[in-house]
Amino acid sequence: MALYNLTVNNKKVRVDVEPDMPLLWVIRDFADLKGTKFGCGMALCGACTIHLNGQPVRSCQLPVSGIQKNDKITTIEGIGENKLSVVQKAWIEEQVPQCGYCQSGQIMSAVALLKSNPDPSDTDIDAAMSGNLCRCGTYDRIRKAIHRAAEEMKVSSNGIGKVGKNEVIAKP
Ligand code: FES
Ligand code: FES
Repeated sequence: MALYNLTVNNKKVRVDVEPDMPLLWVIRDFADLKGTKFGCGMALCGACTIHLNGQPVRSCQLPVSGIQKNDKITTIEGIGENKLSVVQKAWIEEQVPQCGYCQSGQIMSAVALLKSNPDPSDTDIDAAMSGNLCRCGTYDRIRKAIHRAAEEMKVSSNGIGKVGKNEVIAKP
C-alpha cells in the first residue's frame, strides 16, 4: 500500500492503496464518484474516460502510481459542476442517451475534442470518438450533439445565446 494525494475535480483526495490499482477504482471506490463507468477494463470501450490535465485517458488502464503530484484529474462530475456545460446541454437537446452506460465517457471525449477543435467535421468527430463504443448505437445522435455544441459555442462567442431549438436571444 502507498499514499497518494490526488486532485480530482479541483478537490484533494488522499488514498492509501496498492500502486497498481487502476485510477478508475480510486475514482469510484475512494473518491466516491460513480459517474465514470467500468466497461471492458482493457482500454477498448471508452466507458472509463476521464481527463488527465485536460486530455482524455482511459482510467481502467492507468495505475494510480502513474499520476504525478500536480496532475489534474477531471471526471464527468467535474464537467459542468456549477451549471451544465454546453456539451451536456446539447446531449439533452438531442436526447442522446439510451441506456446511458457509455455516455459519461462519450461526453468526456466530446468535451476534449471541442476544446482542441471547436468546429469538427463528421470525419473529425468519428476519428476523435472512435474509441468510445456504444452498444445502443447512439452514434448519430452523438454526432448531432457535438455539432450542436459547436454551434452553441460559436453563437455564444458572437455574443448571442441560443435558448432552445428555434429560439435565439441577444445577450447583453
Ligand atoms: S473500461 Fe476502460 S476502456 Fe473500457
Ligand atoms: S447509450 Fe447504451 S451503451 Fe451507449
